[in-house]
Amino acid sequence: MAREQWGSRVGFILAAVGSALGLGNIWRFPGVAYENGGGAFLVPYLVALCTAGIPLLILEFTIGRRYRGSAPVAFRRIHRNAEFLGWWQVAIAIVIGVYYAVIISWAAWFAWFSIGRQWGEDPERFLMADFLQAGDLYDFGTWLPGLGIALALVWVATLAVIGAGVKKGIEASSKVFIPLLILLFGALVVQSLTLDGAVDGLNAFFTPDWEAIRGPQVWLAAYSQIFFTLSVGFGIMITYGSYLKRKSDITTSAWTVGMSNSFGEILAGIAVFAVLGFLAFETGVPIDEQSYQGVGLAFIAFPAIINTLPYLAGLFGVLFFLSLVVAGFASLISVVEVPVAAVEDRFGWSRRKAVAIVGGGMALVSVALFPTVNGLMLLDVTDYFINNYGIAVAAPASIIAVVWVLWKWKELRDNANATSVFKVGPIWVTCLGVVTPLALTVILFLNVRDLVTAGPGDANAAYHQYQAFGWAVAGGSLAFAVVMALLLRRKETPPFVTEEEAREAEEAAR
Ligand code: ALA
Repeated sequence: MAREQWGSRVGFILAAVGSALGLGNIWRFPGVAYENGGGAFLVPYLVALCTAGIPLLILEFTIGRRYRGSAPVAFRRIHRNAEFLGWWQVAIAIVIGVYYAVIISWAAWFAWFSIGRQWGEDPERFLMADFLQAGDLYDFGTWLPGLGIALALVWVATLAVIGAGVKKGIEASSKVFIPLLILLFGALVVQSLTLDGAVDGLNAFFTPDWEAIRGPQVWLAAYSQIFFTLSVGFGIMITYGSYLKRKSDITTSAWTVGMSNSFGEILAGIAVFAVLGFLAFETGVPIDEQSYQGVGLAFIAFPAIINTLPYLAGLFGVLFFLSLVVAGFASLISVVEVPVAAVEDRFGWSRRKAVAIVGGGMALVSVALFPTVNGLMLLDVTDYFINNYGIAVAAPASIIAVVWVLWKWKELRDNANATSVFKVGPIWVTCLGVVTPLALTVILFLNVRDLVTAGPGDANAAYHQYQAFGWAVAGGSLAFAVVMALLLRRKETPPFVTEEEAREAEEAAR
């Protein structure tokens, strides 16, 4: 059977926007911005978007379309020795998929808890003690059935969509999710802006704090956030690009996807900071002194806010948490598609077999590990390390390989320009080949130095455990990639034709 392609241009853009708009926008961005100086974060964020995010998105769409394959196949076709770069991205996607689903399952529960504010007077106690029964990182053992069953359902739904194929599954579902998300999220933003104190929140969000952006940590967070939110650097957009038809416009699509995503992200920032402003107004504690970290922002601060809302409180909660579910679900589909498509292309497996074995395997790991008392810790560490020391390393490594080592940028530039209305030129390649790798090398170096030297010392065993686990996840992804590439070194990719080629061959034969 011929390899599937997108049914229409709109379908492709909706699927790519569906992938980009996700938990990264609604859950991760406001939290990361909050932890990195609030408004200060917007400056590095926009710099990273323009110098790294959009240029890389264009590159990935082009690589996928030009080499007609998911990440490992595309990189192998660029050069036999480059295959490990594709598997590295696949490994990162596997790690992300495994914890990403967990947050969606929590959000689904919280949409339900919103009705009647079932978290009670103390949302923090509810989340940590009652809902997650949160313990230490290595506190394995207790599996929580309520969380486990919800998570299993998320996986069943995800695998069903992927199993239905590119057109009937991914593309068709995006046509439902995106309008639904706009509706839910639009209503949420409007409601958040009507709250008392919202303006103070927006002031905090939009006032740059030049002092805060001097640290390398903020810059690393910005670049990682851009890669995560745009779904670049871990195989998704290469895979989605590989389903494009030969004549499709690449650069306009990339700009459309990039702009829609950042628009959604900044709107999420506006909504979240508006409600933080409201919380400050209600409690008298200024925004920068409220201490919500990571998941806490969505799952503690929001319930706390909902508790104090004067009207339509339940509705506000349902809107917020359902937005998370819908946005997250469309993205999870794209994340899991990466390893599924990789084994389909590379081993010639049917989609059904790939979904059952690879998707099913991810689901099992996810359902076994995360609905446990240490699930929250596992998730936090994994998210931090796989983004900051996984994607933020793998992305520039792929760029350096393609642009500098294999010198493919001219060919790829011409390939993108040949079918695109907006052409890319010297600015694109400079951002991609010089600015991004240079910036990330400096940032990563300074950051690792800080991480290594600024630790709390030998006394804090938890800190070392945290680090050891995080490095194992980030390093393990690279090790997996190298092993896969070595094992497959002599094995050629089974030949496949795209639907377009199959049609052309049929016409020629007539
Ligand atoms: N791009 C997806 C998100 O932002 C993974 O959540």
